[in-house]
Amino acid sequence: MAASGGLLGDLAPIRQVEAKHDYAPQRLTKPTPVRDGRFTIASYERKEGRAATDVWDQESFVKYMFMMVEGEVEATEACGQTLFDYPDAPWELRFLIARQLWDEARHAELSLQRFQELGGKLDMLPVRDTFPLYFGPVHNDDLAKRLAHLNQVVEGWVTDDFAMMVDICRQLDDERSARLFEQLIADEWLHIKIGGDWIPRLTANNPAYRAEVVKYRLEVEQKLYNDLDAAAKETADRFAASPKGA
Ligand SMILES: [Fe+2]
Ligand SMILES: [Fe+2]
Repeated sequence: MAASGGLLGDLAPIRQVEAKHDYAPQRLTKPTPVRDGRFTIASYERKEGRAATDVWDQESFVKYMFMMVEGEVEATEACGQTLFDYPDAPWELRFLIARQLWDEARHAELSLQRFQELGGKLDMLPVRDTFPLYFGPVHNDDLAKRLAHLNQVVEGWVTDDFAMMVDICRQLDDERSARLFEQLIADEWLHIKIGGDWIPRLTANNPAYRAEVVKYRLEVEQKLYNDLDAAAKETADRFAASPKGA
């Protein structure tokens, strides 16, 4: 047991792995998302952005589901980018991220199916070129920080958001969608666990590095929630000014 690090988890640090950057700029380094002709790409404008869980009827729910489709596609892309960027990361971690990629692809397909059942069309809203969830964090060069941002902060918020959507869908008498979100949550907590299990391993026996990653995590989490608060306030102000046009 002592040789394996004992009960306190005093593990040998895992060899630091560097992001691979000797490749031509790929999908996520392009200025706009790459999508086929069914999608419309546009620049992000806050006034058109949606606050989290900004759903109060069938029409606003279909718009939310559009965001779900795009978010899950981006989550899939982010996993693929991490696998591509870190070919030398520990095999067990790469395996878990590959499994997450499969989960996210399935989430995108299930979300698309429900979106289309509800009458949604892929060109009904533009795909934002600066979607705030995945495009930023996936550029992080440090693997532990990337996991902190994607697999803790973003996946954590997503799981909270889906839990709220379960209740909102039931209030809208939409049991089928409520079940969809319940099924997604069953996968999402495992994505958080990838960060929870691997950040300690990647920073083992290096307290300064671990403190840096924890500090980074707190900062990006605070920024995400500040941005969400600002978006929610703008929606509320718009609604107060014009209840129908909000
Ligand atoms: Fe997902
Ligand atoms: Fe996820």
